[in-house]
Amino acid sequence: MSFESLWADQSAIGRHPETGGYTRGGWTPTEREATHWFLHQCATRNLTVESDGIGNHIAWWEPPAKPAFRAGVVTGSHLDSVIDGGAFDGPLGVVSALAAVDRLRAEGFEPGVPIGIGAFVEEEGSRFGMPCLGSRVAAGVLPAEKALDLQDRTGVRLRHALEEAGIDPAGVGPSPLLQRMGTFVELHVEQGRGLTAPVGVASSIWPHGRYRFTFTGEANHAGTTLMEDRHDPMLTYAMTALAANKQARLAGARATFGRVSVEPNGTNAIPSQVTAWLDARAADTATLESLLAAITKQSTERAERDGTTVEVTAESVSPIVDFPAGLRDRLSGVLGGAPVLPTGAGHDAGVFSAAGIPTAMLFVRNPTGVSHSPAEYAEPDDCLAGVEALAAVLKDLAK
Ligand code: GLV
Ligand code: MN
Ligand code: MN
Ligand code: MN
Repeated sequence: MSFESLWADQSAIGRHPETGGYTRGGWTPTEREATHWFLHQCATRNLTVESDGIGNHIAWWEPPAKPAFRAGVVTGSHLDSVIDGGAFDGPLGVVSALAAVDRLRAEGFEPGVPIGIGAFVEEEGSRFGMPCLGSRVAAGVLPAEKALDLQDRTGVRLRHALEEAGIDPAGVGPSPLLQRMGTFVELHVEQGRGLTAPVGVASSIWPHGRYRFTFTGEANHAGTTLMEDRHDPMLTYAMTALAANKQARLAGARATFGRVSVEPNGTNAIPSQVTAWLDARAADTATLESLLAAITKQSTERAERDGTTVEVTAESVSPIVDFPAGLRDRLSGVLGGAPVLPTGAGHDAGVFSAAGIPTAMLFVRNPTGVSHSPAEYAEPDDCLAGVEALAAVLKDLAK
């Protein structure tokens, strides 16, 4: 099947009629529909699907004459999305993997080792707050008990979400799928404006973390409480957001408050509590740590002035990932000297690399650099160049 028809088919799933965006949180109906679509595509190709306890899948194209080879070359990405995200972040890697395998088969290529197409669950962490949830659990870096206790915004715990999706939570834990991943290559849309060629290769992933800031003050009447008498946590939060922006600029880093929740959330009441989530990223660990320290210090000082308190909790921290240089250069060489660039976005590829699996990433150019938004875009010709590049890389790695 052509990339174009696979893409049209897949990207129709759950597209919001007004925004054009996608909200595919892990184990929600739209994410399940996309996963079922993927499994259907694998079945029509006679690929052997192996799944793990949390719902990651790898579909194998096994070389018939070489049953002795168990570990293979896996490519793929994720089908979940952020809230009102774009079409490309995740699905491009899965659809390109299917198209690349179709292409290699049509050419009569006979792989020397199995080629697998992976779809990993809840990569964005948009439902349970933990990025790369499926791959972290699979790699054993997030214990099953901790994962199963995670709650979504409506209070549903992961264990119940799994049950609702027909998955037995007892099976959640380190995944046997990883034992067959000899090499992993994730193709992904680039998420900034750093790539000017159609296709590039990743050098590293910036270290990043998600931190919960809980600002506590005193609820009171919006009309009768003198400005001098207030203990307003919204004010402390607002000043913290400004400080984060300034400190990130000074450090050449990134800091974002993209999620806030307010209690009691009434127009005519000073809030009692504001909870806000900071996403912070930097090119190296020391810069990330000093950025967080600077933001926390300014927030605490502001809280003292406002008569409020602030508590900072790290919800997830993802260390820097330097992809193995030999593999990275091999891919770039296969692609005729494709540019090599770092990224500030997190990926399952980072988790697998940290778990010791030789891992690389291919990026497809993003002309506007917009991502995590319905406006995310890649030119059709660049997507086709991505499929071609992935096919060439698989051919080289699986020969
Ligand atoms: C995921 O794409 C992330 O980097 O937040
Ligand atoms: Mn993303
Ligand atoms: Mn992604
Ligand atoms: Mn990502």
